[in-house]
Amino acid sequence: MKKQFLLILISSTLVFGCNQATDKNATEAKSTKAKDEVLVKAQKYFAVLPETADNPDNKVTIPKVKLGKILYNDTRLSLEGNNSCNSCHNLATYGVDNLPTSPGDAGNNGTRNSPTVFNAAFHFTQFWDGREKDVEAQAGGPVLNPVEMNIPSEE
Ligand code: HEC
Repeated sequence: MKKQFLLILISSTLVFGCNQATDKNATEAKSTKAKDEVLVKAQKYFAVLPETADNPDNKVTIPKVKLGKILYNDTRLSLEGNNSCNSCHNLATYGVDNLPTSPGDAGNNGTRNSPTVFNAAFHFTQFWDGREKDVEAQAGGPVLNPVEMNIPSEE
């Protein structure tokens, strides 16, 4: 009698254990399937970005890229020489300065958070309020902005 009881106990434990494993596998398979479906859906909306953000009116060339890199880091583009583009959009920290608002050239902070410049050329508008249409139109703004770089005029 005791032996029979033990046998029943062992076999039911095994069956129960197996059921648990089957349940776990089924749950994992379901979640993998759900993830795959989300991925397929997402890929419809988020295609891989092109290698360069080419503007037909302003083709990307190696000399332009080299000049852009120099200008981007040049503090002489600000009146007091305190700010380059990289001060607020630090490329080493994903194109941001990690501050709520950025210190301008004369030490006063602006009123808005500095967005990342990473992939900005792919945006269909620039700035938080979308007031410029592309990076070409945007680029002149910071240099002449009284808080940011404070250069008094284009001349
Ligand atoms: C003092 C800090 C500061 C400096 C210096 C600065 N920026 Fe910005 N930048 C900002 C802030 C703040 C905004 C958002 C302003 C707004 O939306 O009105 C911005 C917005 C931008 C955007 C728009 C990104 C987007 O997603 O809309 C680009 C691109 C950009 N800056 C590039 C530059 C370049 C290039 C320079 C150098 C010529 C530069 N910035 C200099 C603070 C700065």
